[in-house]
Amino acid sequence: MCGIIGYVGPSKVKNILLQGLSQLEYRGYDSAGIAVVGDDGSIHVEKQVGQVKNLKDHCSTMDFDGHVGIGHTRWATHGGVTRENTHPHKQGKVTLCHNGIIENYQSIITAHGFESQLVSETDTEVAAALFNENFNGDPEECIRKTVNELEGSYAFCIIFEGFADRIYCVRNVSPMVASSTKNGSLLASDLTAVIRYSRRYFVIPEYTITVLYDDHIDLFDMDGNTVTPDILEVNWDMESAQKGGYDPFMLKEIHEQPEAIRKNITPRLVNGIPNFEADGIPADAFDHIKAINVVACGTAMYAGMVGKAIIEPVIKIPVQVNIASEFRYSTPLIDSDTLTIVVSQSGETIDTLAGLRKAKECGSKVLAIVNVKGSTIARESDYVLYTHAGPEIAVAITKAYSVQLASFYLISGYMAMRRGIKTVEETREFIEKLDKTIDAISYVLDNKDIIKKAVKKISVARDCYFIGRGLDYAFSMEGSLKLKEISYIHAEAYAAGELKHGTIALIEEGVPVIAFATQDYVYNKSISNIREVKARGAYVILITKENAVIPEDICDMHLTVPIKDDLFTGLPTVAILQLIAYYTSVSKGLNVDKPRNLAKAVTVE
Ligand code: AGP
Repeated sequence: MCGIIGYVGPSKVKNILLQGLSQLEYRGYDSAGIAVVGDDGSIHVEKQVGQVKNLKDHCSTMDFDGHVGIGHTRWATHGGVTRENTHPHKQGKVTLCHNGIIENYQSIITAHGFESQLVSETDTEVAAALFNENFNGDPEECIRKTVNELEGSYAFCIIFEGFADRIYCVRNVSPMVASSTKNGSLLASDLTAVIRYSRRYFVIPEYTITVLYDDHIDLFDMDGNTVTPDILEVNWDMESAQKGGYDPFMLKEIHEQPEAIRKNITPRLVNGIPNFEADGIPADAFDHIKAINVVACGTAMYAGMVGKAIIEPVIKIPVQVNIASEFRYSTPLIDSDTLTIVVSQSGETIDTLAGLRKAKECGSKVLAIVNVKGSTIARESDYVLYTHAGPEIAVAITKAYSVQLASFYLISGYMAMRRGIKTVEETREFIEKLDKTIDAISYVLDNKDIIKKAVKKISVARDCYFIGRGLDYAFSMEGSLKLKEISYIHAEAYAAGELKHGTIALIEEGVPVIAFATQDYVYNKSISNIREVKARGAYVILITKENAVIPEDICDMHLTVPIKDDLFTGLPTVAILQLIAYYTSVSKGLNVDKPRNLAKAVTVE
């Protein structure tokens, strides 16, 4: 939800902080600030509303620097987008940045009488006031005492006056990684701000006081015992986190999908059939499973809907797809015979993490389909299928969705073979079809100019509808989200057969409807539903398989995917939807990579 950077070392810190905030800006970009400890021990704080560029421009005119500092780029939760609400917050001898939500901040204000000393509306400043009240010259004792009173999620990066040679960190749920390098110590909300300095890092363990010095990092648990973290190695390069000639990141990441899917599938094929041993998943892990429970948010949840449509008809077990924020407060009817699959690009989405913990309480084993290595969700799951998509910087998820789908195909193929539903040869053919979808995505990308034309009507629309049946309905959900989140056009996805039960009242002359008819078993019914909207003046963009015979005048534009098997139309179809959303956003002159109000990882409820 927010991005935090901290550095202690021999280099000048101001530019390290500003550069790091640029790398982290996709996590939140409402406002940004830095705090730098001068060589005299004084703490200099600069803040600016707006993107990190505003802070950079502001700081470029100022003559301050040091070797210790912290920085923060904000996604507003408590309090509006104002300079006062921008981190870092300073209360007395404590200056800090925070990512997360302090749920009991109001009761802390009342219990400690902080009202008069607060200048912002944030929960973070309340936490700073509490740290300051508890600070009697011993930062570690102060941290222990303060976190005991805090409720909620947090990653704090703290500077204590009088301790000018170090920065402190303590976290609960919200992510933070750290690295001790030849050129000082660094911490950040995620690897994108660390990788330029080191490929070796560790995840700061929860409830562990972490102290960064210029030449080492100390970690202590809440009892003061030394903690030794697991050192991890970054599995992608800096280049991957750059634009690589594409502008913006979203277009690059859309084009990376074929390669990302190959990176996901290839390491998991032995003689052309799925094998998860390299992922540390026991061969019989899924054998006794009687039901699957998917828990995820947003695009990841829509990937789960496709997973349901891929697995259920083949394996003949129920696959329930749950919105994580609902599931975590529900009474799940799951047990040890249920496999819970949590899906998450970031591996830090707090609702999905809470759903994971809920499922484990019910006795269900948890498999994570996750992209970020060492993320909280990955670490708390029983099994992990890393999606190997590489860093995804654009807020709108594209390649990370595709590799989530690829993972569900692999799971379906694997379970079918293990249960004798498919022979080894049939499983190999199933995987070969999956591999062919990669070529189909490339076909869509090679013909993207046709899609660019399709968006003319959409970009001027107030509303847009996506309709489909079966798997096509699952694609509709993802397509409408993509369009909404980067073009700000109101878009809704509807099961095509459901439209006439009310929503069709909204269809009038020129309203764009993106209609899917890639599923043979419901093709004629889908065509009937499309006739219904066409008859009411809709501007219809129809997506079918390339061999589909379509009726005269059924649509205004016909886009096809070169796939024969209904079960495999998803990946190229969604590539079309991603490009529709992308070109619509670009045609409206919007910030495709950093859409308003959004952040890459939602680490607050
Ligand atoms: C997708 O484009 C959105 N940015 C959002 O729906 C996202 O999929 C959702 O927040 C889940 O994120 P996660 O995959 O990191 O858990």
